[in-house]
Amino acid sequence: METVITADYDELSRLSAKKVAEYIKPDTLICFAAGDTPLGMFKELVAMQSRKEIDLSAAWYAGLDEWVGLGPQDEGSCIKVMTEAFYGPARIPKERIRVFDGLDPDMDRQCREMECWISSRGGIGFTLLGIGMNGHIGFNEPGTPETPGCFTVALDDTTKSVSQKYFGKVLPVTTGITIGWQSLYEARTVVLMASGAGKAPIVRESLKGPSSVDVPASLFQKHDDVTFMLDKAAAALL
Ligand code: GLP
Repeated sequence: METVITADYDELSRLSAKKVAEYIKPDTLICFAAGDTPLGMFKELVAMQSRKEIDLSAAWYAGLDEWVGLGPQDEGSCIKVMTEAFYGPARIPKERIRVFDGLDPDMDRQCREMECWISSRGGIGFTLLGIGMNGHIGFNEPGTPETPGCFTVALDDTTKSVSQKYFGKVLPVTTGITIGWQSLYEARTVVLMASGAGKAPIVRESLKGPSSVDVPASLFQKHDDVTFMLDKAAAALL
């Protein structure tokens, strides 16, 4: 387990992008979290591509999670965030991206299709995850099941209240769909990011506490190739 602590959010974004760039290889399956934390890193990656340092369009992509009931038109949906912050500016061809459709009435089908996308590419090669305020990873909430593959989950109260920052209003979201942590754990390389003083207590639990499903980020402590990328504020209690 490696821990990188940066001076601030800008340095976190720059160094995380540099790390990601090492793994953007033709036909590697990449899984990026949405959320606010990686937004600066996406900008850096797009800038690196425009300087011709990397080719982001040669990889495959799997969207980590989605709010059930939200689609591409909805402010704060993972697909809208990712399209605006990354898939669009990075000009990723549509056929290289698989995301959960939060509007599909059949979530089991969404899970099966994502599992098939992942397994037919030999599993996830690289994943960059954000640590949520309650230690969640994607929508692997505290107490997350050991179930392999993808699943839907009842959202934790913390997630529901934090979610308002993405939507700009109160939305009655109750359920998420996610790639399960077991599939993420099978990735060859895992990066977990956190930024800001608000995350410091959960970052401490994730790195220093017991490895437990109660803090899903802590499950990655024992991964063979995991890096926690933190800015100084998020690392303040380590
Ligand atoms: C959200 C998303 C995750 C994200 C995490 C952290 O609820 N489901 O994909 O990584 O929580 O988000 P943020 O980076 O905004 O703190």
